[in-house]
Amino acid sequence: MQDRKLGLHAFAEGVAEDFRRALMQRFDNDLARTILKEYSLPFRELMVYYRCALMEVETKFRVLNEELSLDSEQNPIEGIESRLKSVESILEKAERKGIDLTPEAIEAGMSDIAGIRVLCSFESDVYMLANALLRQDDVRLVEKKDYIAHPKENGYRSLHLIVSVPIFLHDRRKTMEVEVQLRTLAMDVWASLEHKLLYKKDEDRKTEHVRNNLLECAELAARIDQLMSEADQEVTGREVPPLRAAGQ
Ligand code: GTP
Ligand code: MG
Repeated sequence: MQDRKLGLHAFAEGVAEDFRRALMQRFDNDLARTILKEYSLPFRELMVYYRCALMEVETKFRVLNEELSLDSEQNPIEGIESRLKSVESILEKAERKGIDLTPEAIEAGMSDIAGIRVLCSFESDVYMLANALLRQDDVRLVEKKDYIAHPKENGYRSLHLIVSVPIFLHDRRKTMEVEVQLRTLAMDVWASLEHKLLYKKDEDRKTEHVRNNLLECAELAARIDQLMSEADQEVTGREVPPLRAAGQ
């Protein structure tokens, strides 16, 4: 318990330092000083709350995995990655989207400050885990984007949920939003490499040849998921989700 408290304290200090540095780099000194004076502490608090929300959601998935692992045929989580958006990215997104640099406006205008990615074995596990999370009575679905049923034009597939969850502070309960991305290992391989190559990069680097290559890779990844699902069904009797080719 004490360790966790110390951890959060160290985290808040780190955020404050990051915040100061990013502000000084991005804005002229007068503006940066004003923002720091007025918002430094509330901003630190906000980042700690997001960190807590991330811990809550991560724990929910760990609990599900633990419980489901009792059944040797159900070990649906291959990995969990969580991250807080960097201060630099928060400032950049706020500027891009015209969001005021106040903790209130940032909290209201950005739902992806706390993000968790759950890597699943099979496509059916993605939906099973999403449903298991959304069934919990302290979890509220804010938004769902099913890029598996409807892949993005570039071939990207994943299930995205924005959920809100309560965190329990010493004197009150506060609700925070967390972005959850669920994907299979095959989807993750594609997304990680595409991200390295292209995501949010200059448009002129995305030649047609490169785009077509990536689309073909996305189709291969979708085919891997389909064949693995069929194998899983044969071995365990679990249901195969319908195939949806990339680009459809
Ligand atoms: P942001 O402005 O980045 O938050 O996008 P958005 O609000 O339109 O949300 P969306 O749900 O489409 O995407 C959010 C996140 O999903 C991104 O930050 C990436 O992590 C991931 N993502 C979405 N599209 C792609 C893609 O085409 N390629 C890769 N590699 N990742 C993607
Ligand atoms: Mg985002």
